[in-house]
Amino acid sequence: MLLDAPAPVRAPSVDPAFRADVLAGLAARPRAVPALWFYDRAGSELFEKITDLPEYYPTRTETALLAAHCGEVATIVGPGRAVVEFGSGSSTKTPHLLAAIEPAAYVPIDISGEFLQASAAALAADFPKLPIVPVEADFTLPLSPPVGIARMPKLGFFPGSTIGNMVARTAVNLLRAMVETLGEGSMLLIGMDRVKSPDMLVPAYDDAQGVTAAFNLNLLHRINRELDGTVPIDAFRHRAIWNDDYARIEMHLEAVRDAAFTVAGQPFAISAGETIHTENSHKYGPRDARLLLRAGAWTPIREWTDAEGKFALILAEARPAGTAP
Ligand code: AVI
Repeated sequence: MLLDAPAPVRAPSVDPAFRADVLAGLAARPRAVPALWFYDRAGSELFEKITDLPEYYPTRTETALLAAHCGEVATIVGPGRAVVEFGSGSSTKTPHLLAAIEPAAYVPIDISGEFLQASAAALAADFPKLPIVPVEADFTLPLSPPVGIARMPKLGFFPGSTIGNMVARTAVNLLRAMVETLGEGSMLLIGMDRVKSPDMLVPAYDDAQGVTAAFNLNLLHRINRELDGTVPIDAFRHRAIWNDDYARIEMHLEAVRDAAFTVAGQPFAISAGETIHTENSHKYGPRDARLLLRAGAWTPIREWTDAEGKFALILAEARPAGTAP
């Protein structure tokens, strides 16, 4: 049962925030463009392909964890919760959870309205009696749950290790915003990718078929398409690097030769070997993960991992801060 959400505000064809981030990011040193700009239609489709790659273990590992453990999640969280999914995208993992926990409603939140409506409609077909209220919004900011949902007990759902795409400070701010959105006493089921050998991590972000390279390079195509850019795409190559100090995979676009180009009428030059930093994907050891959650005002109460410890699903609760030392 697909219910109406407040009318979404449609983005203009050239997003001024995209323009501002690209111009500032290309002028900065080191150069960096926020990863959120990967996800235009082409980028979202390429990301869906990444999730099926043999080297990209996170999606299938997390999906198997959900399939195996949602029954235990249901026992802990109980029936009658509104499931609020942050950055729902194509919602492919959601059916496992919804089928297990007897939810009172499903509220997918995503900035991409088009994607959101399509995936909400698909879920509505599978769960015809479940009220589904899609919300087109930036989930990184606190928001008021739709009318009718506000008083229900809530379970946040944040799969995919998307938290890993944020630096620690931003991740903590997001976790705290989730507490504001969901309210004290709510629960959160979150997926977090684990620290592991770069021998497994680097190929996951630099696959043999070149899909991740195409995903990274699509950012340059998007700049040319939407910001009247003249970036010579063939002057750049995809790089995936393990940064051990930060426990993260970094994606960069590295200039293979000196290049000059314009974006929105502004001139830029880059020398061979210089890079544009386009994404971080942080990986968390068991204690790192728990500490991050506590810093974000969530108390971890249960976690599940696969046999090799590649990926973790963690259930946490928003408890009022205690006074104990
Ligand atoms: C969306 N996010 C969790 C993915 C990740 O693994 O960091 C994005 C991605 N980038 C390259 N491959 C996948």
